[in-house]
Amino acid sequence: MKLQTKLCDLLGIQYPILQGGMAWVSTAELAAAVSEAGGLGIIGSGQAPPEWLEEQINIVKKLTKKPFGVNVMMMSPYMEQVMQLILDERVPVVTTGAGNPGKFIPGLKEIGTKVIPVIPSVAWPSVWPRAG
Ligand SMILES: Cc1cc2nc3c(=O)[nH]c(=O)nc-3n(C[C@H](O)[C@H](O)[C@H](O)COP(=O)(O)O)c2cc1C
Repeated sequence: MKLQTKLCDLLGIQYPILQGGMAWVSTAELAAAVSEAGGLGIIGSGQAPPEWLEEQINIVKKLTKKPFGVNVMMMSPYMEQVMQLILDERVPVVTTGAGNPGKFIPGLKEIGTKVIPVIPSVAWPSVWPRAG
C-alpha cells in the first residue's frame, strides 16, 4: 500500500508513522525495528546519562541505515550533554518532551536535524511547573 506523504519526504521514511519516544521502553532495538519497517523509530533518552545514549545510538546505527530519532526529555539532568551528543552523532530527527527546546533548535537545524517538539496539552505548564 502506498502511503507517501509530505512527512515521509521530510523525514525520509516510507510510512507516516512515528514511534513515540518512551523513556526506559524505546531502546535502540525497538527504534531500529520500527525504522527498518518503514516508520520512524525513536530512542527514548529520558533521564539517562549521555554514555547510555551514545551506546544506544551506536547500536541503532549498526541495526539500520534508515533514519531514526532520539526523544529528549527536557527535564533531564543531562540535557546539555545529551543535546551535544545528538549534534556530534548527527542524529537525523529529534523529538522533545517536558520542556522548551527553543535554545537548541538553531544548532540542530544547522546540521539538518529535524526537530519535532511534542506538546501534550495547553494545560501542561501547571502540571510541570519547573519546565520552561
Ligand atoms: C511508557 C511511556 C513512556 C513515555 N516516555 C516519554 C518520554 O520519555 N518522552 C516523551 O516526550 N514522551 C514520552 N511518552 C509519550 C509518547 O512518546 C507519546 O507521545 C504518547 O504516548 C502519545 O502517543 P499515543 O497516543 O500513540 O500513545 C511516553 C509514553 C509512554 C506510554
